[in-house]
Amino acid sequence: MGKNKVILGCQWGDEGKGKIVDLLAADSDIIARFQGGANAGHTIVVNGKQYILHLIPSGIIHPGKQCFIGNGVVLDPFAFKEELEFLVEHGIDYSGRLWISPATNLVLPYHKLIEDVEENRRGTKNLGTTKRGIGPAYVDKVARHGIRVIDLFAPERLRKRLEFQKTIKSQYLTGSDDERADLNWIYESLMTLVELFQPLVKDISLALYDAYKTNKSILFEGAQGTMLDVDLGTYPYTTSSNTTIGGALTGLGISPKMIDSVIGVVKAYTTRVGAGPFPTELIDETGEKLQQAGNEFGASTGRPRRCGWLDLVVLKHTTRINGVDSIAVTKLDVLDKFEEIKVCTRYEHEGNTLENLPLDLAELNYVKPIYETLKGWNTSIKGITKYDNLPEETKAYIKYIADFLEVDIALVSTGPGREETILF
Ligand code: GDP
Ligand code: IMO
Ligand code: MG
Repeated sequence: MGKNKVILGCQWGDEGKGKIVDLLAADSDIIARFQGGANAGHTIVVNGKQYILHLIPSGIIHPGKQCFIGNGVVLDPFAFKEELEFLVEHGIDYSGRLWISPATNLVLPYHKLIEDVEENRRGTKNLGTTKRGIGPAYVDKVARHGIRVIDLFAPERLRKRLEFQKTIKSQYLTGSDDERADLNWIYESLMTLVELFQPLVKDISLALYDAYKTNKSILFEGAQGTMLDVDLGTYPYTTSSNTTIGGALTGLGISPKMIDSVIGVVKAYTTRVGAGPFPTELIDETGEKLQQAGNEFGASTGRPRRCGWLDLVVLKHTTRINGVDSIAVTKLDVLDKFEEIKVCTRYEHEGNTLENLPLDLAELNYVKPIYETLKGWNTSIKGITKYDNLPEETKAYIKYIADFLEVDIALVSTGPGREETILF
């Protein structure tokens, strides 16, 4: 593992990125989040205490670590304020160590209203979003009428930009009695946040460059997972940002030279929240067993996560795209009570065997996974911290994955707690 590491999800999110970022933050100076918004739910467990973060980098729990939010993030200022209050309630002092790019786009109440309308219009084909206004906020950013953090400090410009929303979003806002359509109320509410934001704004790109030049150690924290990437995932059943390696560069304004290694977070089986294709999904007792053992309920929305066996075809795609050097295998303890564990190594589709994802990812709805069956360890590995103490079957499972993907193992997680980890 090099010094400056990107940590990102290799499946459909919720791989356990929060735990891994928190863990590795101990040896880092800066933790920088590059995309996504409050759709993320990153869980950290320290001394039995659980913290769920949405917008704030998972390094914040460590006293003294610098945390950056990049321009690639879409930031809901009201959710952000609540998250800061949560930190204060839990005795975490963020002053002087939490910074936001002025170019970060804001998620505003009307984005959530628009998302509700659009999801309803899609009917049974809805995406099952987190309803955090993410899609509409990224739409505004790309359409170049977004409102950014820096606009908070130019009240007249902010007012004009909000006024313009009335024109371009008239189909959603005009005549609506939903409070989220009330632009005056939004303006007044934003004005109450100016003082909170003022001391947090920083040129993140420049600060990261300076940190790099002075040999500081940086962790780049991704949200969601590669299969939710708007370009490379199971579109349209994706989120609206680049969750992949390119997102780290554009979302923070950094050069690829600043990245020494890429760690892909891989859950030992597969989960997905929301709609969209999922070849190895198990809609049966085994799927339920994974869901119960893994406590697979969303950290942001509480929705049950769909569960299935590990999909190595997906992982081959996602580790390749990101140039993953090593993987962090999480939730291995969830497989403790299985006689046999299956891994999907290829698909069958219309009489053909597919080693890679189909050209049209919508076909993932129809492919049949072909499995290899490995022996389960059928004993508790919960909390094990030494590789030598793992059962041989567990070692064989990890080795199978690493060999198949041609990557190294960075670490293995055997429980939600920070210390329940085997470092390689
Ligand atoms: P993220 O979005 O990738 O940060 O992942 P989430 O926090 O949404 O979901 C991961 C869940 O699994 C959280 O509840 C974690 O506390 C939990 N978790 C992480 N690693 C492990 C592990 O190795 N074993 C178990 N049993 N739970 C884990
Ligand atoms: P973390 O960072 C899992 C999913 C939603 C939905 C789709 C689009 O905790 O891994 P959005 O609200 O982004 O427009 O929803 O993406 N999704 C996630 N699934 N983990 C996440 O984040 C997710 N963020 C979004 O469920 O299917
Ligand atoms: Mg999550």
